[in-house]
Amino acid sequence: MKKCFKIFTAAGIAGSMFLCCSSVENPEDTPKVSTLKEAPYVSGCAVVPSLLRTNLDYSATVVREMRSLTAENAMKMDAISAGKGQYNWTDADYIVDFARKNGMRVHGHTFVWHQALPSWVKEFKGNRDEWIALLKEYVTDVATHFRGNIASWDVVNEAFNDDGTYRSTPWYDNIGPEYIELAFKFAREADPDVLLFYNDYGMEYSKAKSDAICAMAEDFKTRNIPIDGIGLQMHVNVNSQIEGFFSSINAAAETGLLVHVSELDVALNPSKDENMTLTETMLQKQKIVYKSMVEAFMSVPAAQRYGITLWGLDDSHSWLTPNPDWPLPFDADFNRKPAYFGMIEQ
Ligand code: G3I
Repeated sequence: MKKCFKIFTAAGIAGSMFLCCSSVENPEDTPKVSTLKEAPYVSGCAVVPSLLRTNLDYSATVVREMRSLTAENAMKMDAISAGKGQYNWTDADYIVDFARKNGMRVHGHTFVWHQALPSWVKEFKGNRDEWIALLKEYVTDVATHFRGNIASWDVVNEAFNDDGTYRSTPWYDNIGPEYIELAFKFAREADPDVLLFYNDYGMEYSKAKSDAICAMAEDFKTRNIPIDGIGLQMHVNVNSQIEGFFSSINAAAETGLLVHVSELDVALNPSKDENMTLTETMLQKQKIVYKSMVEAFMSVPAAQRYGITLWGLDDSHSWLTPNPDWPLPFDADFNRKPAYFGMIEQ
């Protein structure tokens, strides 16, 4: 791994820069831009408040490279609400404040999901109307709290199975499929300006799922259910079929909505081999996957390109790394990997 040295300029962390021995692998690959922040798309990453607060390398890299932040966990229901009508905004507000101080956009993740549910919701017993009332109160309170400080929300996350059927979740089981449109309506009523996204994974490998999501989006548009965009998570791996990136992203773009690659990472150890070790060959294959994802995203009409958000920043802070893996464009020392250059080479 080429060693890079950080030079903190007089401008402080925001102005920090890298002096790398030879940070670009091949001179002919010299990127036309020098940071993700300068890329021809809005670069973002999922962030963790404790790391923003305490890890200077982490926060400096976020400020230097990113134009958008997503809360990896701090805006989920289990992080915000310990009880009905009870909220703790501290960590979520830290991210919003950090973004505002550094001129960044914030993407909210997520009002409605089947994971990250607090105990009080898991244990809630009520009829359909009472579940709808719970949903309305939560979405309204959270959207209202962040109104004016958050550009967009994943209103509903992962509502479909890979075969295109609705996923059985407490929301679906107690309200029916209408919970999705109700969540979008409640969010719009609380915040007339925020952009509202549906977010999911697997559109790149399941046409049935992609078709179901796009059909829902078209139906919402027909019935004037407020929806502004589709988030394709893109938790992919080094063996993923690159054609699926193009087909799924273009299918989402065909709806006319905004397209957000919302949770991008490229696993190098999808089989979770505990003995896996990292090689330069793997890093170069990973670069191709990242580069292809950017190419697929850039094939969308410019007005529909919402952004490319990484699901984390560096390899030592990824949801994937309980197993050996190196899924992100920065290594554990925040050095730029070949994957990084795959994202900024045109
Ligand atoms: O904060 C608690 C900590 O107090 C406690 O000691 C610890 C051990 O129990 O758990 C901590 O919470 C964990 C949280 O991450 C913060 O680290 C949760 O258990 C853990 O389940 C949670 O995992 C997150 C997961 O979503 C579920 O919310 C991952 O970090 C996060 O990367 C992952 O992200 C999801 C997206 O939201 C949706 N798309 C898929 C993606 C990957 O699963």
